[in-house]
Amino acid sequence: MSTENLPQSPEQQPTRKPRVAVVCGGRSSEHGISVVTAGAVLKAIDRTKYEVLPIGITRDGRWALTADEPERMAITDRRTPTVEDLAESGEGGVVLPVDPGNREVVYTEPGSVPKALGEVDVVFPVLHGPYGEDGTLQGLLELSGVPYVGSGVLSSAVGQDKEYMKRVFESFGLKVGPYLVIRPREWEADEAGARRRIADFAGEHGWPLFVKPARAGSSIGITKVDDFSGLDDALAEARRHDPKILIEAALRGREIECGVLEFEDGPRASVPAEIPPPDAHAYYDFEAKYIDSTPGIVPAPLTEEETAEVQRLAVEAFEAASCEGLVRADFFLTEDGEFVINEINTMPGFTPISMYPQMWQASGIAYPELVDRLIQAALRRSTGLR
Ligand SMILES: Nc1ncnc2c1ncn2[C@@H]1O[C@H](COP(=O)(O)OP(=O)(O)O)[C@@H](O)[C@H]1O
Ligand SMILES: [Mg+2]
Repeated sequence: MSTENLPQSPEQQPTRKPRVAVVCGGRSSEHGISVVTAGAVLKAIDRTKYEVLPIGITRDGRWALTADEPERMAITDRRTPTVEDLAESGEGGVVLPVDPGNREVVYTEPGSVPKALGEVDVVFPVLHGPYGEDGTLQGLLELSGVPYVGSGVLSSAVGQDKEYMKRVFESFGLKVGPYLVIRPREWEADEAGARRRIADFAGEHGWPLFVKPARAGSSIGITKVDDFSGLDDALAEARRHDPKILIEAALRGREIECGVLEFEDGPRASVPAEIPPPDAHAYYDFEAKYIDSTPGIVPAPLTEEETAEVQRLAVEAFEAASCEGLVRADFFLTEDGEFVINEINTMPGFTPISMYPQMWQASGIAYPELVDRLIQAALRRSTGLR
């Protein structure tokens, strides 16, 4: 009788380190930032504790093996790197089987035999925006039966859709600013009517207005509009990114952000940060965020009561959307001292200079520990209902 298939005694079992697939890039306009973030995560993961498999998703959605070379994943000459720059696997693709009994990642290439790349124990989707942070990838990972860092399908989708995010927050008693939604069917059926609704909204709340794609990120597609003359361009720009549009009244106040991280005993809030209004930019836009790396003030100069309040609200926002792992909750502190929630980000900017890691750094959790805690939180749960 062969002893090959008999279970090994614990002493004989090779102690395998958990294998983390760091997935970055993707089809969203935040592709480049995602690659930069993944570079920092790859650098920070404790290699004595975890094995790492870097996977990039190209801008047209192909999964590729990428080089485990964090130094090549940085912004150079004001240009963000792409998965296409880093892909190692030529024309081939990486497949995660949609079979909860099989966690083996497979490399396939036309004309050659598929090659097994070993099992993956947890996926760290370092992806922002559509097809990464919006629940679609999370759905794939649920089907595959592989645990993953961050929020599940519904929470990710809620966090990505500025309309439903506001509706969820409102229903949980969190204060949101005035907004108007123009759905694609409404725009197509009655554009004039949609424009009248926008005019009425402007009449009620005044200019400027913020015109936003409902499901984007990194300020992409957002325009601050000062009067009717800028409206057409702003609508066209927003609609280039999403057929569903949000119109928001401009909120006057300080921008305060707060990190939420899932610990063994539940979510906790970081010290908050303040994003000062940048001089060179009309508002906190893409350039201000990533290229000029506008420094946030950490901790935000708030009173003890204000700090406690924003921390409480940040955890409430995390719970309202049933988030997991991490969230950055963004607020406006209005002139009358009220915190109005702008949005949550279920996969916030995560480079070491990004606000989320900075807020945790100031709360006593350094970047590598943050990465470790997120992986551990993911490993503590399985996929499926929870
Ligand atoms: N209603 C608003 N009033 C004032 N400023 C706003 C408003 N909405 C957005 N902004 C500014 O634009 C930035 C980006 O908008 P946000 O809704 O956070 O989009 P994104 O998901 O792209 O980060 C905010 O950080 C803020 O500076
Ligand atoms: Mg934002």
